[in-house]
Amino acid sequence: MAEHAGEHDSSKAAPLWGGRFSEVPTGELERFGASLPVDQRLWREDIAGSKAHATMLAAQGIISEEDRDAIVAGLDGIARDIASGGLTFDVEESEDIHMAIEGELTRRIGAAGGRLHTGRSRNDQVALDFRLACMRMSRELEGAVAGLAQALLGRAESEFGVVMPGYTHLQPAQPVLFSHHMLAYFWMMMRDACRLEQAHDAASASPLGAAALAGTTYPLDRAAVARDLGMGSVIPNSMDAVSDRDFALDLLYACAVCQVHLSRLCEELVLWSSAEFGFVEMDDAHSTGSSIMPQKKNPDFAELVRGKCGRSCGDLMSLLMTLKGTPLTYDKDLQEDKEGVLDAYDTLLGSLHAVTGMVATMRVKGERMREASHEGYMAATDLADYLVGKGMPFREAHGVVGRIVAECVERGITLQQLTVDELREHSELFDEDALAAIDIDAVVARRTTYGGTGHDAVRRQLAEAKDALAELEGRLEA
Ligand code: ARG
Repeated sequence: MAEHAGEHDSSKAAPLWGGRFSEVPTGELERFGASLPVDQRLWREDIAGSKAHATMLAAQGIISEEDRDAIVAGLDGIARDIASGGLTFDVEESEDIHMAIEGELTRRIGAAGGRLHTGRSRNDQVALDFRLACMRMSRELEGAVAGLAQALLGRAESEFGVVMPGYTHLQPAQPVLFSHHMLAYFWMMMRDACRLEQAHDAASASPLGAAALAGTTYPLDRAAVARDLGMGSVIPNSMDAVSDRDFALDLLYACAVCQVHLSRLCEELVLWSSAEFGFVEMDDAHSTGSSIMPQKKNPDFAELVRGKCGRSCGDLMSLLMTLKGTPLTYDKDLQEDKEGVLDAYDTLLGSLHAVTGMVATMRVKGERMREASHEGYMAATDLADYLVGKGMPFREAHGVVGRIVAECVERGITLQQLTVDELREHSELFDEDALAAIDIDAVVARRTTYGGTGHDAVRRQLAEAKDALAELEGRLEA
């Protein structure tokens, strides 16, 4: 520390607030305090916000039309140069993207550039940029969620009729349609899209005009800026405007929940790909091998998505903790808000694309699933229901079938391998039609309740799923 303490570089340009200061922080401290490496990803939003602000300043007669034109043209030029890779910023020169772009603008257009910040503070500027970025990211994620929903729906349709074991406690419980299992994840995606849209709407309110914290003496038209930027409203309290980061928490929560859904799906894909289950085989392009074991085919990407869940949940916790002790209004703590959100966004977008590919290309081994559906005595409930149909109280039927299952376990056979005579040794109520009652397809088909796994119920569900997806896609296109 001591050796850095005296390290003041008098050759450095004075910062924007140079007037009041006789010394500047050391290079190390400056890098510590900078947010440019993270917030440079918000350059598009920063430029859009500045153009809207300058346009409004001119409309209100606060700056001249010539200055506005110079500012807007200058910003457009900067945008072109950043997009082409011709202009990059250096953390040694600018603390954040807001100062970097304003500095570059003033270098390019001179005095007019110095008028852009009239009636504005970086406090309302950064809140605006971050809100615009959150709006963009939520919509982008919603599109990727719709893509995965489409893949799940596609598999539900193409594999219609495939029967698989349904589990509770990871023990075989009752047979279900593979389509039904896929659609369970489809509905999770629909809820994720809904949460992302709510996060989008939470971000869609303009803080600009709050200035540092108290509002400004210039006659700004806050509503015009909000309209220009496609934001739904104007934040009614300037102190709340510069210190609120709830919208970021909303997006982080939506990302974390969706990432948890993907993690659950990937856990199943990993299990199903194992030799023990053998329900699916991942496409080669979505698997990796081993550097030592030539036989290996590992569902690496599914495992990685599962593992990345920790990161997304951590990003949410991290911002909650950052916010908990910050007094109104802006505190430098708030600069910590963007890194986690960008990380959660990157993580979820990459995960959604990876899982969409896995689901769309995996080989579904229907024969193996059917075989497994006979293995766990999963028609036992139906056999009990059969006896109930013949007049036996359910509790008594439960006992009878329990003894039948014990016999099958003992003999190492499935329920379907029993003969009617063998069933009748347990109860006189069993007739010839008892075997049809435990046929695995019949067992599934009988679940006709709305939302159940029966073929007709799932057909109806598929139709509803298509409507829900069309509605989401329609909303995203609009
Ligand atoms: N780099 C800052 C951030 O990301 C910008 C706002 C700075 N405002 C201030 N008063 N220091 O939060």
